[in-house]
Amino acid sequence: MDGFMKGRIKIFTYGCQMNDLDSLKMHSGLSTLGFTPTQETAEADIIILNTCSVRQKAYEKAISNLGRLKSHKSRNPSLIIAVTGCVAQQEGERIRERMPHVDIILGTHQLHRLPDLIEHVHNASYPMTETDFSESIPSMDIVPDQGLSDHPHRSYINIMQGCDNYCSYCIVPYVRGHEVNRDYKKVLNEIGLHASRGVKEVFLLGQNVNSYNGGITFPGLLRGIHGIEGIERIRFTTSHPKDVSDGLIDCFKDLDKLCSHIHLPFQSGSDSVLKAMNRHYTHHSYLGLIEHLRSARPDISFSADVMVGFPDESKQDYLDTLAIIKTVRFDVLYSFKYSVRPGTAAAAQLNDNVSSEVKIERLKQLQALQKRITFENNQARIGKIYEVLVDGISPKNPLQVHGRTSQNAIVNFLGDQGLIGKILPICITRANQNSLTGEMA
Ligand code: 5AD
Ligand code: SF4
Repeated sequence: MDGFMKGRIKIFTYGCQMNDLDSLKMHSGLSTLGFTPTQETAEADIIILNTCSVRQKAYEKAISNLGRLKSHKSRNPSLIIAVTGCVAQQEGERIRERMPHVDIILGTHQLHRLPDLIEHVHNASYPMTETDFSESIPSMDIVPDQGLSDHPHRSYINIMQGCDNYCSYCIVPYVRGHEVNRDYKKVLNEIGLHASRGVKEVFLLGQNVNSYNGGITFPGLLRGIHGIEGIERIRFTTSHPKDVSDGLIDCFKDLDKLCSHIHLPFQSGSDSVLKAMNRHYTHHSYLGLIEHLRSARPDISFSADVMVGFPDESKQDYLDTLAIIKTVRFDVLYSFKYSVRPGTAAAAQLNDNVSSEVKIERLKQLQALQKRITFENNQARIGKIYEVLVDGISPKNPLQVHGRTSQNAIVNFLGDQGLIGKILPICITRANQNSLTGEMA
C-alpha cells in the first residue's frame, strides 16, 4: 500500500458544522498516513462525500453528486469513492443498489474506521459498508491537525453527538443515534492542548449541547473551559430552548469569555405547530427565555432556525412565526420549507398538506422581513467599538482582514497577515447586508 499512501484525497462536505469537523478529522487522519489533499476531482485517488440528510434538498444534492462521480470511476477504476455522514447512515447498503460505483459506505459512528476500510478496499478490491451504532463514538476523541483548518485560532470540539428529542420532523435521532456524551475530562484535555498551541476560541459542537452530561453539566463544562489559560472565547451550538437552564443563563452573567451570541432554533411561533413538532415550549416561553438571556447579557445577539409549511400550518400559525421574528430581531435566521423525512413521526402521522406554492410564498415573505431586520441590526452598530478576533485575509479584498465580534458579526477592515489571531478593538464605519466594515479604534 506504500505507493498508494502518496495518493490524493478530495472531500466534499455538506451540511452542518459537525460535518465540517468530521471532514477535518478525516482529512487530518489521512494526511498523517501520507495522503495529500487536492482541489481537482479528476486528480483524486480517493473521493469522500460527507453527506447531510436533514432536509430533502441536502439529501438530493448528495445523491446527485454521487451519481456524477460514476464517470470518474469508469475513467479511473482504481479510484476509491466513499460516502460518509447522515445519508450513508440512513441508506447503508441501499446506496450501492443505485450507485454500484461506491466503494465505502461509512456510518456516523464509524468514522474512525476510514483508514482501515480504505486499505481493505485498496488491497482486496471489494466494497465495504459499516453503519452500526455503538455506545461510544471513537471519532469524537480524534483531535484534528489544527494546521489544516482555515481558521487556525478557532477549534471546533465535539462534546456530544446524537439526539433523544425526537422532534417530529427531524431525522437526526435516526442518523446520528442516541445522545452520546463525551467525557468532560477528555473535552478539557483537548481544549488545553489547543490552547497550548495558540488557539484562542473554542466552538463546542453537538446536536443539543445544553443537554450535555459527560460527567458534569453543560454550565459546569463552560465554567471548566473558562479556567483554561489562553482560551479567550467560548462558543457553542446548537441549543434546544427547553434545555436552556438557569445555570446556563448564569454563565452569560458570570463568564466573560463566553461570547455574546446564542443560536436558539425556534422552528415555529405557533403553539399548536410547536406541539405537533414535539418541541416542549410555547411562543410565550420562548420569548421569556430571550428576555432572560438579554437581562443576563444585554449585548447578546441571537440567531435561529425556523421552518414554514409544517403540516396544518395555518395563516395565523405563520403570522405567529413572523411575530417572533419581529420581537426577537435575530441577527441571522436560517429558514426552510418543511420537507418530509422518511422514518420520522411527522412522515408517518401527518399530511404534508401545505402546498408548495404557499410554502414558497411564506418563505419569501419571511426572508424579506429577516433581511430588513439583519440590515437594521447591522446599521445600529455603526459608530460602536467591538472586539474582533481576526480570522484571515478577506476573500474579496486582499488589503483587508476579516474577523468576528463576540456577537458573531463578520467585520472587514484594513489590515494584513500579521493581524491574524489577534483580538482588536474595531470601530464600525459601515453596515452591509451580511457584514460590517470598520477601522482600528
Ligand atoms: N424540513 C425542513 N427543515 C428541517 N429542519 C430539520 N428537519 C427539517 C425538515 N424535515 C431544519 C430545522 C433544523 C435545521 C437544522 O434544519 O430548522 O433546526
Ligand atoms: Fe432534530 Fe430536534 Fe434533535 Fe434538533 S433537538 S437534532 S431538531 S430531533
